[in-house]
Amino acid sequence: MDDLDTVADEARTAITCAGDKQALEALRVDYLGKNGRLTALLKGLGKLPAAQRPAAGAVINECKREIQGLIETRKGQLEAEEMARQLAAQRIDVTLDGRGRGSGGIHPISRTIERVEDFFGGIGFETAEGPELEDDYHNFEALNIPAHHPARAMHDTFYIDSNILLRTHTSPVQVRVMASASPPIKIICPGRVYRCDSDITHTPMFHQVEGLLIDEENNFADLKGLIEDFLHAFFENQSLPVRFRPSYFPFTEPSAEVDIQCLNCGAEGCRVCGNSGWLEVMGCGMVHPRVLEMADIDPDRYTGFAFGMGVERLSMLRYGVNDLRIYFENDLRFLEQF
Ligand code: DAH
Repeated sequence: MDDLDTVADEARTAITCAGDKQALEALRVDYLGKNGRLTALLKGLGKLPAAQRPAAGAVINECKREIQGLIETRKGQLEAEEMARQLAAQRIDVTLDGRGRGSGGIHPISRTIERVEDFFGGIGFETAEGPELEDDYHNFEALNIPAHHPARAMHDTFYIDSNILLRTHTSPVQVRVMASASPPIKIICPGRVYRCDSDITHTPMFHQVEGLLIDEENNFADLKGLIEDFLHAFFENQSLPVRFRPSYFPFTEPSAEVDIQCLNCGAEGCRVCGNSGWLEVMGCGMVHPRVLEMADIDPDRYTGFAFGMGVERLSMLRYGVNDLRIYFENDLRFLEQF
């Protein structure tokens, strides 16, 4: 009976301290199982004198019931704790406000294209589109860039096969329009273009707007005036200095690149303009007679000019965005500012 008190005390402490249901089950087996310690005491009753057996048996059985009860209680506590943990972890707080729907905005690329279309549309230019999957003829050959022409190396072309490619510029749309319409032609062609080029300032896909005007009377001065007017309107600054720098494109002759005075430093020289004071914004020139001929347009009767600009670049300059990558993330915090 001394043993009983010790065993019972041990059991009470162990059960109250059991940390989980497995530990509790191990205790049940340990005390109440077939070879358990209380069971062993019951088995030992036979060694007592017969007169003492009933009383001793009653005490041990009473103790057994108590231990059983303690185990049940502890089991209930452990289950309740586990449930509480689960509920806390999986809680759905129905009182939280809904997330709402952020309002987006027109993407600055679309917005820039719309502004360009507005300006040129207002003076009679129509918008034309062409395929992004082009063939060698329209992207290169008909623009006076034959195979092995060094200008091809500047285009980092994505080829689909030896003839089909992702257009590297919007200039092939000029070729398609010249083939299907007859002068006078006044078009702009916005769209996606692709080059195998990717770094902080280049993405494999970007946008250009091409312009083409062909009729009987026009010259480089007309081109120059038009581009100046456009840039003044686009940047909303009538006195923004614009300069034409002689350049080379196979499909125009003469050719020029157009710079505006640096918007960031006003010609002082800064990081944005590479200390030159100027920012290049487009290429242009008088359509090469070979290009007209290939499109069956008589170069003795018609002349024309063309220009091409990068939309991302214009847009970044216009809206003061200094990281090209943000244009491709569609982060509402960026878009809703437009
Ligand atoms: N296609 C040229 C490019 O992607 C840009 C360009 C320059 C287009 C001069 C023109 C042009 O129409 O006349 O670099």
